[in-house]
Parts: sequence; C-alpha cells; structure tokens
Amino acid sequence: MIDLDIKPETDADAVMDLLMLADPSEALVRDYVAEGKLYKAIWDDIIVGVFVLLPLEDTLWELKNIAVSEEWQGKGVGKVLLNAAVEAARVLGATTLEVGTGNSSVDQLAYYQKAGFRMVRIARNFFTLNYDEPIIENGIPCVDMVILSRNL
Ligand code: COA
Repeated sequence: MIDLDIKPETDADAVMDLLMLADPSEALVRDYVAEGKLYKAIWDDIIVGVFVLLPLEDTLWELKNIAVSEEWQGKGVGKVLLNAAVEAARVLGATTLEVGTGNSSVDQLAYYQKAGFRMVRIARNFFTLNYDEPIIENGIPCVDMVILSRNL
C-alpha cells in the first residue's frame, strides 16, 4: 500500500501544474484555492498529488482539483489520495463530500464510483457557461457537470 504523507499547502503556485491537471482554467483554480483548503501528498520527498476541499455548508464539503502527477497516474496513488481527501474532510467536520466531474470524464466517473461516490445531480451547461474554450474528452463534448456525493 502506498503511504502518502498529506500536508496542507499555502502556496498554490508551488503546485499549480498539478492543480491544472484537473481543471484547465487557472482563474477558477485560484478561486477554489482561495476559498478552500489546499493539500499536497508527498511520497518519498516528491509531491505526487494535490486536492482542495471547499466548504459548501456546515457539514457539506466539496472536493476540487484532485490530481496525481502524470508519471504517477494509474499506479494506485489516486485511490489512496481520494481516501486521504475523505479523511481530511471528516477531520474538518464534513459528513457529506461532493465532487463534480464532466459528462465526458469517463475515467473519473469510474474512479469516484469505485470509491463509493454516487451520482446526485447534473449541473447542465456548467462547462459551456464557465469555460471559454470547448473541452472534448474521449470524443465527447464536455458540457454538463455530473455531481457525485459520498456520506462520510
Ligand atoms: N475504468 C474503470 N476504472 C478506472 C478507470 C476506467 N477508465 N480509470 C481509473 N479507474 C479506476 C482504477 O481501476 C482504480 O480502481 P481499482 O483500485 O478498484 O482498480 C481507481 O480508478 C483508481 O486508480 P488509480 O491508479 O489509483 O488512479 P490515479 O492514480 O490515476 O488517479 C486521477 C486518478 C483521476 C486522480 C488521475 O488520473 C489524475 O490526476 N487525472 C488528471 C486530473 C483529473 O482528471 N482529476 C479529476 C478531476 S474531476
């Protein structure tokens, strides 16, 4: 089992490349980081992943920008990182954690559901309304945001 050291990070610029793996808009990433709590995951002195936790209501938090550096993807780091994000949200007092991903983000939809997240609603046109450039993944236009949720 990969043993990640999870630490709060105050300097978004230090991990901006990683944050932008999960979101092509630097402006939106900076907004989320300013409103939420940014964490980095260290393995063997290397920053291998990041995530942001954003408060929505008292015990409802949102997971944003979870990402594993490209050379570490597909090796189980993301699974450990998602569990760490759930644990960090619990420590902050969350009883429900939401996460949003694109209708075209087929891998991410699998990733979150394998970790116990279930679809709760769709923010129609979220990506066309909030992003200047069209996004296409897996040959599918990314238009709507699928919101998934997990009770903690
Ligand atoms: N179909 C089925 N399962 C898939 C899958 C697919 N296409 N893609 C990933 N998974 C599953 C894996 O099989 C694994 O499940 P298992 O442990 O039950 O086998 C699980 O997802 C996690 O795999 P892991 O290797 O730990 O993931 P990772 O280290 O690659 O991290 C991301 C996953 C999404 C964080 C990583 O790929 C990433 O940083 N992507 C770019 C940023 C991003 O898109 N962030 C999310 C924004 S919504």
